Amino acid sequence: DQRPILVQGPMPIEAENFAKKLEDVKEEKSGTFIFYIGKLDKYPVIVAKTGKGMENTAAATAVAIERYNPIAIINQGTSGGHDPNLNVFDIVLGKRTVNLGALKTADKDENQGIDPTIWKPMDLMASEGSAGEDPNAEKPRFYEGDKDLLTAANAVKDTYTKGKIVEGTIGSADVWNNEVDRIKWFHTKYGSSVEEMEGASAAQIAKAYDVAFLGIRVLSNNKVNGGKYNPDTAAANQEYVYEVVKKYISDI
Ligand code: 5AD
Repeated sequence: DQRPILVQGPMPIEAENFAKKLEDVKEEKSGTFIFYIGKLDKYPVIVAKTGKGMENTAAATAVAIERYNPIAIINQGTSGGHDPNLNVFDIVLGKRTVNLGALKTADKDENQGIDPTIWKPMDLMASEGSAGEDPNAEKPRFYEGDKDLLTAANAVKDTYTKGKIVEGTIGSADVWNNEVDRIKWFHTKYGSSVEEMEGASAAQIAKAYDVAFLGIRVLSNNKVNGGKYNPDTAAANQEYVYEVVKKYISDI
């Protein structure tokens, strides 16, 4: 049997356009997650509307892997720019994806205050021991984008005319950063191109089950260079991801 390709989108505007492009669609639910099970060029493709955030996405990813055994997972949607050279409608292919919310604070006593600028990245997958005590856990964990998915994505770049497409680093956390200095801190320390709230959780679960993964994120806003929020970017990204999936299928 052909293993399906899973395309995830958090919000209705980030999933439903793609779902509408599928043929022979049947809908299934699990909790609040909706799976649109259909075909693209006769190949099985499932669109998952996961809901926003790391928790919804991790759970929706595990459920989909257990139920549908996907060959590959694309987590896609909108994002906020960390790189001043990226504009609204530009798209980042996640060569790497990283959790920006996994942090260890400094050691301070009462009345010594709070200082996020000296917090350290924390890797919860570094060992099975206490991440708070393990010096080897004081680093970010990067999830590599799948090579074949990246190849397919790069091969159809020219079909996208609303902005540029670059490889980069996608950062995730249940946080919307609007402090430019904090955004710059992530951009410098992690090399983040954009931030969103899902990619790293899907990447972590995909990796746990050894399933190929790629994040594809359009900028809907960029605080760093004044790029104003535009929700139309969500549909544009799905048009492009549709071309990526078609290309990936043609190479299977
Ligand atoms: N910061 C965090 N998440 C963002 N999203 C779009 N822009 C940003 C941003 N600047 C995405 C998240 C989440 C929803 C709020 O939109 O992935 O699903």
